[in-house]
Amino acid sequence: MNTPENQALFVPVMAPRPNSFSLSLWNLPAFRRNMLSIWSDKAYQARKMSFRLLNQDYILCNSPDTVRRVFLDRHDIYDKKSPQMRHALEPLLGDGLFVSDGALWQERRKACSPPFESVYLPGFAKIMSGSAVEMADRWAALPDGSTVDVLNEMARLTAQIIGRTVFGDDVPDQDAAKVVSGFTEYQQTINQIDYADTFGLPFLRRLGNPLRRKKAARATAEVHQVIDQIIDRFKRGRKPERLTLLSALLEGDTASSGQGGCPMSAEAARNEAIVMFMAGHETTANALAWTWYLLDGCERSRSKMYAEIDQVLQGRTPTFEDVANLPFTRAVFEESLRLYPPVPLLSRQARSEDEIRGSKVKAGTIMLALPWLLHRHEKEWDNPNAFYPERFMPGNPKPDKFTYIPFSVGHRVCLGLRFGLTEGILCLATLAQRYRLSLPDKHKVDIECRLTLRPKGGLPMILSKRR
Ligand code: HEM
Repeated sequence: MNTPENQALFVPVMAPRPNSFSLSLWNLPAFRRNMLSIWSDKAYQARKMSFRLLNQDYILCNSPDTVRRVFLDRHDIYDKKSPQMRHALEPLLGDGLFVSDGALWQERRKACSPPFESVYLPGFAKIMSGSAVEMADRWAALPDGSTVDVLNEMARLTAQIIGRTVFGDDVPDQDAAKVVSGFTEYQQTINQIDYADTFGLPFLRRLGNPLRRKKAARATAEVHQVIDQIIDRFKRGRKPERLTLLSALLEGDTASSGQGGCPMSAEAARNEAIVMFMAGHETTANALAWTWYLLDGCERSRSKMYAEIDQVLQGRTPTFEDVANLPFTRAVFEESLRLYPPVPLLSRQARSEDEIRGSKVKAGTIMLALPWLLHRHEKEWDNPNAFYPERFMPGNPKPDKFTYIPFSVGHRVCLGLRFGLTEGILCLATLAQRYRLSLPDKHKVDIECRLTLRPKGGLPMILSKRR
Protein backbone atom coordinates (compact mmCIF):
# COMPACT_ATOMS: atom_id res chain seq x y z
CA MET A 1 0.00 0.00 0.00
CA ASN A 2 1.09 3.62 -0.51
CA THR A 3 1.95 5.70 2.51
CA PRO A 4 0.65 9.30 2.56
CA GLU A 5 2.98 11.85 0.97
CA ASN A 6 1.93 14.83 3.02
CA GLN A 7 2.70 13.37 6.46
CA ALA A 8 6.11 13.31 8.07
CA LEU A 9 6.45 9.69 9.17
CA PHE A 10 8.63 8.48 12.03
CA VAL A 11 11.76 6.72 10.74
CA PRO A 12 13.20 4.75 13.66
CA VAL A 13 16.78 3.56 14.12
CA MET A 14 18.23 1.45 11.28
CA ALA A 15 21.25 -0.82 10.91
CA PRO A 16 24.38 0.76 9.39
CA ARG A 17 24.73 0.18 5.63
CA PRO A 18 28.28 -0.19 4.30
CA ASN A 19 29.03 0.98 0.72
CA SER A 20 29.41 -2.54 -0.54
CA PHE A 21 28.44 -5.97 0.72
CA SER A 22 31.17 -8.31 1.86
CA LEU A 23 31.49 -11.15 4.32
CA SER A 24 35.13 -11.99 4.82
CA LEU A 25 37.54 -12.79 7.60
CA TRP A 26 38.18 -9.03 7.75
CA ASN A 27 34.73 -7.99 8.77
CA LEU A 28 33.92 -11.10 10.77
CA PRO A 29 34.41 -9.28 14.12
CA ALA A 30 31.94 -6.53 13.11
CA PHE A 31 29.59 -9.20 11.83
CA ARG A 32 29.81 -11.07 15.12
CA ARG A 33 28.85 -7.90 16.97
CA ASN A 34 25.92 -7.14 14.72
CA MET A 35 25.07 -9.43 11.86
CA LEU A 36 22.92 -6.79 10.21
CA SER A 37 25.85 -4.45 9.72
CA ILE A 38 27.28 -6.12 6.58
CA TRP A 39 24.33 -5.56 4.24
CA SER A 40 24.72 -2.70 1.76
CA ASP A 41 21.93 -0.93 -0.17
CA LYS A 42 22.10 -3.72 -2.76
CA ALA A 43 20.79 -6.27 -0.25
CA TYR A 44 17.66 -4.15 0.23
CA GLN A 45 16.95 -4.31 -3.52
CA ALA A 46 18.30 -7.66 -4.79
CA ARG A 47 16.04 -10.70 -5.21
CA LYS A 48 18.82 -13.21 -4.62
CA MET A 49 22.52 -13.01 -3.75
CA SER A 50 25.19 -15.71 -3.67
CA PHE A 51 28.45 -15.60 -1.76
CA ARG A 52 31.10 -17.84 -0.27
CA LEU A 53 33.13 -17.80 2.93
CA LEU A 54 35.77 -20.38 3.87
CA ASN A 55 34.53 -23.03 1.42
CA GLN A 56 30.94 -22.59 2.50
CA ASP A 57 28.41 -21.50 -0.16
CA TYR A 58 25.52 -19.24 0.78
CA ILE A 59 22.46 -18.08 -1.09
CA LEU A 60 20.38 -15.20 0.21
CA CYS A 61 16.68 -15.73 -0.60
CA ASN A 62 15.40 -12.20 -0.82
CA SER A 63 12.13 -12.44 -2.74
CA PRO A 64 8.77 -14.14 -2.19
CA ASP A 65 9.48 -16.82 -4.83
CA THR A 66 12.89 -17.82 -3.42
CA VAL A 67 11.54 -17.93 0.15
CA ARG A 68 8.60 -20.01 -1.03
CA ARG A 69 10.89 -22.49 -2.79
CA VAL A 70 13.02 -23.17 0.29
CA PHE A 71 10.47 -22.89 3.09
CA LEU A 72 7.45 -24.44 1.42
CA ASP A 73 7.73 -26.07 -2.02
CA ARG A 74 11.03 -27.96 -1.49
CA HIS A 75 11.18 -27.88 2.31
CA ASP A 76 11.80 -31.64 2.18
CA ILE A 77 15.37 -31.12 0.96
CA TYR A 78 16.24 -28.14 3.15
CA ASP A 79 17.15 -29.02 6.72
CA LYS A 80 16.63 -26.60 9.55
CA LYS A 81 19.53 -27.84 11.58
CA SER A 82 22.88 -29.03 10.30
CA PRO A 83 24.20 -32.29 11.86
CA GLN A 84 26.75 -30.26 13.90
CA MET A 85 24.00 -28.05 15.21
CA ARG A 86 21.88 -30.98 16.24
CA HIS A 87 24.83 -32.54 17.98
CA ALA A 88 25.55 -29.32 19.88
CA LEU A 89 21.99 -28.75 21.04
CA GLU A 90 21.05 -32.29 21.93
CA PRO A 91 22.49 -32.30 25.48
CA LEU A 92 20.36 -29.25 26.23
CA LEU A 93 17.17 -29.81 24.28
CA GLY A 94 17.13 -33.53 23.65
CA ASP A 95 15.87 -34.62 20.26
CA GLY A 96 12.74 -32.46 20.23
CA LEU A 97 10.78 -30.21 17.93
CA PHE A 98 13.34 -27.46 17.69
CA VAL A 99 16.35 -29.57 16.75
CA SER A 100 14.83 -32.29 14.62
CA ASP A 101 13.97 -32.60 10.94
CA GLY A 102 12.12 -35.24 8.92
CA ALA A 103 9.93 -37.91 10.50
CA LEU A 104 10.81 -37.15 14.13
CA TRP A 105 10.02 -33.45 13.65
CA GLN A 106 6.68 -34.37 12.03
CA GLU A 107 5.76 -36.65 14.90
CA ARG A 108 6.69 -34.04 17.54
CA ARG A 109 5.03 -31.16 15.74
CA LYS A 110 1.79 -33.15 15.66
CA ALA A 111 2.10 -34.06 19.33
CA CYS A 112 2.87 -30.48 20.42
CA SER A 113 0.16 -28.75 18.37
CA PRO A 114 -3.10 -29.52 20.27
CA PRO A 115 -2.67 -27.00 23.12
CA PHE A 116 -2.11 -24.28 20.51
CA GLU A 117 -5.56 -24.83 19.01
CA SER A 118 -7.88 -21.82 19.18
CA VAL A 119 -10.11 -23.39 21.83
CA TYR A 120 -7.37 -22.98 24.48
CA LEU A 121 -6.33 -19.44 23.60
CA PRO A 122 -9.01 -17.65 25.69
CA GLY A 123 -7.72 -19.47 28.81
CA PHE A 124 -4.13 -18.53 28.07
CA ALA A 125 -5.28 -14.95 27.34
CA LYS A 126 -6.41 -14.67 30.98
CA ILE A 127 -2.86 -15.46 32.09
CA MET A 128 -1.52 -12.83 29.66
CA SER A 129 -3.77 -9.96 30.79
CA GLY A 130 -3.55 -11.01 34.45
CA SER A 131 0.26 -10.98 34.40
CA ALA A 132 0.26 -7.57 32.65
CA VAL A 133 -2.11 -6.20 35.34
CA GLU A 134 0.35 -7.42 38.01
CA MET A 135 3.14 -5.56 36.22
CA ALA A 136 1.07 -2.35 36.01
CA ASP A 137 0.29 -2.68 39.75
CA ARG A 138 4.00 -3.06 40.47
CA TRP A 139 4.72 0.07 38.41
CA ALA A 140 1.99 1.86 40.36
CA ALA A 141 4.05 1.41 43.54
CA LEU A 142 6.93 3.39 41.95
CA PRO A 143 6.96 7.20 42.08
CA ASP A 144 5.43 8.73 38.94
CA GLY A 145 8.19 9.59 36.45
CA SER A 146 10.40 6.63 37.46
CA THR A 147 12.69 5.19 34.81
CA VAL A 148 12.64 1.43 34.21
CA ASP A 149 14.50 -0.80 31.75
CA VAL A 150 11.60 -1.71 29.51
CA LEU A 151 13.48 -4.55 27.81
CA ASN A 152 14.01 -6.14 31.20
CA GLU A 153 10.46 -5.48 32.29
CA MET A 154 9.02 -7.04 29.16
CA ALA A 155 11.32 -10.07 29.57
CA ARG A 156 10.08 -10.48 33.12
CA LEU A 157 6.48 -10.23 31.98
CA THR A 158 6.78 -12.73 29.14
CA ALA A 159 8.78 -15.16 31.32
CA GLN A 160 5.96 -15.08 33.83
CA ILE A 161 3.35 -15.64 31.13
CA ILE A 162 5.14 -18.54 29.47
CA GLY A 163 6.05 -20.05 32.86
CA ARG A 164 2.41 -20.04 33.97
CA THR A 165 1.28 -21.33 30.58
CA VAL A 166 3.72 -24.21 30.47
CA PHE A 167 3.71 -25.24 34.14
CA GLY A 168 0.53 -23.74 35.61
CA ASP A 169 0.37 -21.07 38.29
CA ASP A 170 0.58 -23.43 41.23
CA VAL A 171 4.33 -23.94 40.76
CA PRO A 172 6.15 -22.42 43.78
CA ASP A 173 7.80 -19.04 43.12
CA GLN A 174 11.32 -20.26 43.90
CA ASP A 175 10.96 -23.12 41.38
CA ALA A 176 9.77 -20.70 38.73
CA ALA A 177 12.68 -18.36 39.54
CA LYS A 178 15.17 -21.25 39.19
CA VAL A 179 13.72 -22.12 35.80
CA VAL A 180 13.91 -18.50 34.61
CA SER A 181 17.50 -17.97 35.75
CA GLY A 182 18.56 -21.35 34.36
CA PHE A 183 17.04 -20.46 31.02
CA THR A 184 18.81 -17.12 30.85
CA GLU A 185 22.18 -18.84 31.24
CA TYR A 186 21.18 -21.58 28.87
CA GLN A 187 20.04 -19.17 26.23
CA GLN A 188 23.25 -17.17 26.23
CA THR A 189 25.13 -20.35 25.39
CA ILE A 190 22.65 -21.38 22.75
CA ASN A 191 23.03 -17.96 21.17
CA GLN A 192 26.71 -18.69 20.66
CA ILE A 193 26.18 -22.19 19.33
CA ASP A 194 23.26 -21.40 17.11
CA TYR A 195 24.91 -18.34 15.71
CA ALA A 196 28.00 -20.25 14.61
CA ASP A 197 25.98 -23.02 13.04
CA THR A 198 23.50 -20.79 11.31
CA PHE A 199 26.46 -19.73 9.24
CA GLY A 200 28.02 -23.18 8.95
CA LEU A 201 31.08 -21.81 10.76
CA PRO A 202 31.41 -24.12 13.75
CA PHE A 203 34.86 -22.73 14.58
CA LEU A 204 33.14 -19.54 15.75
CA ARG A 205 31.85 -21.58 18.65
CA ARG A 206 35.35 -21.88 19.99
CA LEU A 207 35.51 -18.11 20.26
CA GLY A 208 32.88 -18.41 22.94
CA ASN A 209 33.67 -18.57 26.61
CA PRO A 210 34.23 -22.20 27.77
CA LEU A 211 33.35 -21.23 31.35
CA ARG A 212 29.94 -20.20 30.15
CA ARG A 213 29.41 -23.69 28.76
CA LYS A 214 30.13 -25.17 32.17
CA LYS A 215 27.75 -22.74 33.81
CA ALA A 216 25.15 -23.57 31.18
CA ALA A 217 25.54 -27.29 31.84
CA ARG A 218 24.90 -26.65 35.54
CA ALA A 219 21.94 -24.43 34.75
CA THR A 220 20.56 -27.07 32.41
CA ALA A 221 20.78 -29.75 35.08
CA GLU A 222 18.89 -27.46 37.46
CA VAL A 223 16.17 -26.68 34.92
CA HIS A 224 15.79 -30.39 34.17
CA GLN A 225 15.53 -31.20 37.85
CA VAL A 226 12.82 -28.61 38.53
CA ILE A 227 10.73 -29.68 35.54
CA ASP A 228 11.20 -33.38 36.33
CA GLN A 229 9.82 -32.73 39.81
CA ILE A 230 6.77 -30.95 38.38
CA ILE A 231 6.22 -33.90 36.03
CA ASP A 232 6.64 -36.33 38.88
CA ARG A 233 4.01 -34.53 40.96
CA PHE A 234 1.72 -34.57 37.94
CA LYS A 235 2.20 -38.32 37.43
CA ARG A 236 1.40 -38.95 41.09
CA GLY A 237 -1.94 -37.28 40.55
CA ARG A 238 -1.34 -33.62 41.52
CA LYS A 239 -2.78 -32.18 38.34
CA PRO A 240 -3.05 -28.44 37.66
CA GLU A 241 -6.52 -26.92 37.82
CA ARG A 242 -6.59 -25.98 34.16
CA LEU A 243 -4.78 -27.14 31.05
CA THR A 244 -1.09 -26.25 30.89
CA LEU A 245 1.21 -26.88 27.95
CA LEU A 246 3.02 -29.49 30.00
CA SER A 247 -0.17 -31.31 31.05
CA ALA A 248 -1.28 -31.36 27.40
CA LEU A 249 2.00 -32.96 26.36
CA LEU A 250 1.82 -35.54 29.14
CA GLU A 251 -1.83 -36.45 28.67
CA GLY A 252 -1.87 -36.23 24.92
CA ASP A 253 -5.65 -36.38 24.58
CA THR A 254 -6.46 -32.71 24.42
CA ALA A 255 -6.87 -32.15 20.69
CA SER A 256 -10.33 -30.75 20.04
CA SER A 257 -9.76 -31.66 16.38
CA GLY A 258 -9.16 -35.24 17.49
CA GLN A 259 -5.91 -35.17 15.54
CA GLY A 260 -3.21 -34.88 18.09
CA GLY A 261 -2.75 -37.17 20.62
CA CYS A 262 -0.33 -39.61 22.00
CA PRO A 263 0.92 -38.95 25.51
CA MET A 264 4.63 -38.22 25.49
CA SER A 265 7.22 -39.81 27.71
CA ALA A 266 8.24 -37.68 30.70
CA GLU A 267 11.60 -36.92 29.12
CA ALA A 268 10.16 -35.91 25.75
CA ALA A 269 7.55 -33.71 27.45
CA ARG A 270 10.26 -32.05 29.54
CA ASN A 271 12.33 -31.29 26.45
CA GLU A 272 9.39 -29.85 24.55
CA ALA A 273 8.41 -27.73 27.56
CA ILE A 274 11.93 -26.28 27.49
CA VAL A 275 11.58 -25.53 23.77
CA MET A 276 8.29 -23.69 24.37
CA PHE A 277 9.83 -21.63 27.10
CA MET A 278 12.87 -20.75 25.01
CA ALA A 279 11.02 -20.03 21.79
CA GLY A 280 8.22 -18.06 23.39
CA HIS A 281 9.92 -15.85 25.91
CA GLU A 282 12.59 -13.54 24.50
CA THR A 283 10.89 -13.14 21.10
CA THR A 284 7.72 -11.58 22.50
CA ALA A 285 9.65 -9.53 25.05
CA ASN A 286 11.85 -7.95 22.37
CA ALA A 287 8.84 -7.26 20.15
CA LEU A 288 7.05 -5.49 23.00
CA ALA A 289 10.11 -3.41 23.89
CA TRP A 290 10.53 -2.25 20.27
CA THR A 291 6.82 -1.39 20.16
CA TRP A 292 7.09 0.96 23.16
CA TYR A 293 10.04 2.68 21.47
CA LEU A 294 8.10 3.09 18.21
CA LEU A 295 5.02 4.45 19.97
CA ASP A 296 7.12 7.00 21.80
CA GLY A 297 8.51 8.25 18.47
CA CYS A 298 5.14 8.62 16.73
CA GLU A 299 2.62 10.86 18.44
CA ARG A 300 -0.02 10.21 15.77
CA SER A 301 0.01 6.40 16.16
CA ARG A 302 0.23 6.63 19.93
CA SER A 303 -2.87 8.82 20.23
CA LYS A 304 -4.77 6.60 17.82
CA MET A 305 -3.87 3.45 19.76
CA TYR A 306 -4.67 4.95 23.15
CA ALA A 307 -8.01 6.23 21.83
CA GLU A 308 -8.91 2.77 20.49
CA ILE A 309 -7.97 1.04 23.74
CA ASP A 310 -9.84 3.56 25.91
CA GLN A 311 -12.93 3.41 23.75
CA VAL A 312 -13.09 -0.41 23.50
CA LEU A 313 -12.13 -1.29 27.05
CA GLN A 314 -13.59 1.61 29.06
CA GLY A 315 -11.10 0.81 31.81
CA ARG A 316 -11.74 -2.97 31.87
CA THR A 317 -8.95 -5.56 31.77
CA PRO A 318 -8.90 -6.89 28.18
CA THR A 319 -10.02 -10.44 27.43
CA PHE A 320 -9.43 -12.67 24.43
CA GLU A 321 -12.71 -11.46 22.88
CA ASP A 322 -11.46 -7.84 22.92
CA VAL A 323 -8.52 -8.64 20.65
CA ALA A 324 -10.76 -8.67 17.55
CA ASN A 325 -11.96 -5.16 18.44
CA LEU A 326 -8.48 -3.69 18.72
CA PRO A 327 -7.40 -3.60 15.05
CA PHE A 328 -5.14 -0.58 15.38
CA THR A 329 -3.34 -2.00 18.43
CA ARG A 330 -2.81 -5.17 16.45
CA ALA A 331 -1.54 -3.16 13.44
CA VAL A 332 0.95 -1.36 15.71
CA PHE A 333 2.30 -4.72 16.96
CA GLU A 334 2.46 -6.15 13.43
CA GLU A 335 4.28 -3.07 12.11
CA SER A 336 6.73 -3.38 15.00
CA LEU A 337 7.36 -7.03 14.00
CA ARG A 338 8.01 -5.79 10.45
CA LEU A 339 10.54 -3.14 11.43
CA TYR A 340 12.22 -5.15 14.18
CA PRO A 341 11.58 -8.87 13.60
CA PRO A 342 12.73 -10.57 16.83
CA VAL A 343 14.22 -13.42 14.78
CA PRO A 344 15.93 -11.41 12.03
CA LEU A 345 17.62 -14.31 10.24
CA LEU A 346 16.47 -17.79 9.23
CA SER A 347 18.72 -20.42 7.72
CA ARG A 348 18.39 -23.80 6.08
CA GLN A 349 20.93 -26.22 4.60
CA ALA A 350 20.42 -28.02 1.26
CA ARG A 351 20.66 -31.78 1.68
CA SER A 352 20.63 -32.36 -2.07
CA GLU A 353 20.92 -30.26 -5.24
CA ASP A 354 18.25 -27.83 -6.30
CA GLU A 355 17.78 -24.89 -8.64
CA ILE A 356 16.66 -21.45 -7.66
CA ARG A 357 15.96 -18.56 -10.04
CA GLY A 358 17.93 -20.37 -12.76
CA SER A 359 21.04 -21.03 -10.62
CA LYS A 360 22.19 -24.37 -9.31
CA VAL A 361 22.10 -24.92 -5.55
CA LYS A 362 24.82 -27.36 -4.51
CA ALA A 363 24.19 -29.83 -1.68
CA GLY A 364 25.48 -28.30 1.56
CA THR A 365 24.69 -24.70 0.54
CA ILE A 366 23.31 -22.58 3.36
CA MET A 367 20.17 -20.74 2.35
CA LEU A 368 19.52 -17.54 4.25
CA ALA A 369 16.28 -15.59 4.50
CA LEU A 370 16.45 -12.40 6.53
CA PRO A 371 13.11 -11.05 7.72
CA TRP A 372 15.12 -7.89 8.42
CA LEU A 373 15.94 -7.43 4.70
CA LEU A 374 12.64 -8.74 3.33
CA HIS A 375 10.65 -6.46 5.63
CA ARG A 376 12.58 -3.40 4.43
CA HIS A 377 12.92 -4.46 0.78
CA GLU A 378 12.62 -1.42 -1.45
CA LYS A 379 10.76 -3.27 -4.19
CA GLU A 380 8.21 -4.76 -1.82
CA TRP A 381 7.23 -1.91 0.51
CA ASP A 382 6.32 1.73 0.18
CA ASN A 383 8.43 3.85 2.52
CA PRO A 384 9.99 0.67 4.01
CA ASN A 385 11.89 2.30 6.86
CA ALA A 386 8.99 4.37 8.19
CA PHE A 387 6.70 3.34 11.05
CA TYR A 388 3.22 3.30 9.53
CA PRO A 389 0.87 0.82 11.29
CA GLU A 390 -1.98 1.67 8.90
CA ARG A 391 -0.41 -0.65 6.32
CA PHE A 392 -1.70 -3.54 8.45
CA MET A 393 -5.23 -2.22 8.92
CA PRO A 394 -8.14 -4.28 7.59
CA GLY A 395 -9.18 -3.01 4.17
CA ASN A 396 -5.62 -2.43 2.98
CA PRO A 397 -3.91 -5.07 0.82
CA LYS A 398 -2.33 -7.76 2.99
CA PRO A 399 1.46 -8.06 2.70
CA ASP A 400 2.66 -11.10 0.76
CA LYS A 401 3.00 -14.04 3.14
CA PHE A 402 6.48 -14.90 1.80
CA THR A 403 7.68 -11.31 2.21
CA TYR A 404 6.34 -10.59 5.70
CA ILE A 405 7.74 -13.47 7.75
CA PRO A 406 8.30 -12.50 11.41
CA PHE A 407 7.06 -15.97 12.42
CA SER A 408 8.79 -17.73 9.48
CA VAL A 409 6.56 -19.42 6.90
CA GLY A 410 5.76 -22.86 5.51
CA HIS A 411 5.87 -26.13 7.42
CA ARG A 412 8.04 -24.84 10.24
CA VAL A 413 6.09 -21.66 10.83
CA CYS A 414 6.14 -20.65 14.51
CA LEU A 415 3.89 -22.92 16.53
CA GLY A 416 3.15 -20.05 18.90
CA LEU A 417 2.17 -17.54 16.19
CA ARG A 418 -1.34 -16.86 17.43
CA PHE A 419 -0.25 -17.16 21.04
CA GLY A 420 2.52 -14.58 20.50
CA LEU A 421 0.29 -12.13 18.61
CA THR A 422 -2.46 -12.38 21.22
CA GLU A 423 0.07 -11.95 24.01
CA GLY A 424 1.60 -8.86 22.36
CA ILE A 425 -1.78 -7.18 21.82
CA LEU A 426 -3.13 -7.97 25.31
CA CYS A 427 0.04 -6.83 27.11
CA LEU A 428 0.12 -3.60 25.10
CA ALA A 429 -3.57 -2.90 25.71
CA THR A 430 -3.35 -3.64 29.45
CA LEU A 431 -0.26 -1.52 30.10
CA ALA A 432 -1.17 1.31 27.71
CA GLN A 433 -4.47 1.79 29.51
CA ARG A 434 -2.55 2.97 32.54
CA TYR A 435 0.84 4.17 31.32
CA ARG A 436 2.65 6.22 28.74
CA LEU A 437 6.30 5.27 28.27
CA SER A 438 8.83 7.79 26.97
CA LEU A 439 12.56 7.77 26.30
CA PRO A 440 14.76 10.01 28.43
CA ASP A 441 15.92 13.02 26.36
CA LYS A 442 19.50 11.98 25.97
CA HIS A 443 19.06 8.27 25.36
CA LYS A 444 19.99 7.09 21.87
CA VAL A 445 18.46 3.75 20.91
CA ASP A 446 20.70 1.36 19.01
CA ILE A 447 20.30 -2.14 17.58
CA GLU A 448 21.88 -5.29 18.88
CA CYS A 449 21.55 -8.27 16.62
CA ARG A 450 22.85 -11.68 17.57
CA LEU A 451 20.28 -14.41 17.19
CA THR A 452 17.50 -12.13 18.25
CA LEU A 453 17.10 -8.44 17.62
CA ARG A 454 16.86 -6.12 20.58
CA PRO A 455 17.64 -2.60 21.77
CA LYS A 456 21.33 -2.52 22.62
CA GLY A 457 22.09 -2.21 26.34
CA GLY A 458 18.40 -2.29 27.29
CA LEU A 459 15.71 0.34 26.86
CA PRO A 460 15.38 2.91 29.68
CA MET A 461 11.98 4.59 29.58
CA ILE A 462 10.11 6.97 31.85
CA LEU A 463 6.75 5.80 33.22
CA SER A 464 3.94 8.36 33.36
CA LYS A 465 0.56 7.41 34.76
CA ARG A 466 -2.35 8.00 32.38
CA ARG A 467 -4.96 7.41 35.03
C1 HEM B 1 6.42 -12.37 18.79
C2 HEM B 1 6.67 -13.59 19.20
C3 HEM B 1 7.32 -14.68 18.39
C4 HEM B 1 8.08 -14.61 17.25
C5 HEM B 1 8.48 -13.37 16.46
C6 HEM B 1 8.44 -15.98 16.90
C7 HEM B 1 9.19 -16.33 15.79
C8 HEM B 1 9.49 -17.63 15.42
C9 HEM B 1 10.25 -18.00 14.24
C10 HEM B 1 10.80 -17.02 13.23
C11 HEM B 1 10.33 -19.36 14.22
C12 HEM B 1 10.99 -20.21 13.15
C13 HEM B 1 12.47 -20.33 13.28
C14 HEM B 1 13.06 -21.01 12.06
O1 HEM B 1 12.35 -21.40 11.15
O2 HEM B 1 14.29 -21.12 12.02
C15 HEM B 1 9.65 -19.86 15.40
C16 HEM B 1 9.53 -21.20 15.72
C17 HEM B 1 8.91 -21.66 16.85
N1 HEM B 1 8.22 -20.91 17.78
FE1 HEM B 1 7.96 -18.89 17.75
N2 HEM B 1 7.92 -16.83 17.83
C18 HEM B 1 7.22 -16.10 18.76
C19 HEM B 1 6.52 -16.57 19.85
C20 HEM B 1 6.40 -17.90 20.18
C21 HEM B 1 5.67 -18.40 21.34
C22 HEM B 1 4.92 -17.51 22.32
C23 HEM B 1 5.82 -19.77 21.35
C24 HEM B 1 5.29 -20.81 22.31
C25 HEM B 1 4.48 -20.57 23.29
C26 HEM B 1 6.64 -20.13 20.19
C27 HEM B 1 7.00 -21.42 19.86
C28 HEM B 1 7.73 -21.76 18.75
C29 HEM B 1 8.11 -23.13 18.43
C30 HEM B 1 7.75 -24.37 19.25
C31 HEM B 1 8.84 -23.08 17.24
C32 HEM B 1 9.48 -24.26 16.49
C33 HEM B 1 8.48 -24.77 15.46
C34 HEM B 1 9.02 -25.91 14.60
O3 HEM B 1 10.22 -25.98 14.34
O4 HEM B 1 8.17 -26.70 14.15
N3 HEM B 1 6.97 -18.97 19.52
N4 HEM B 1 9.14 -18.79 16.11
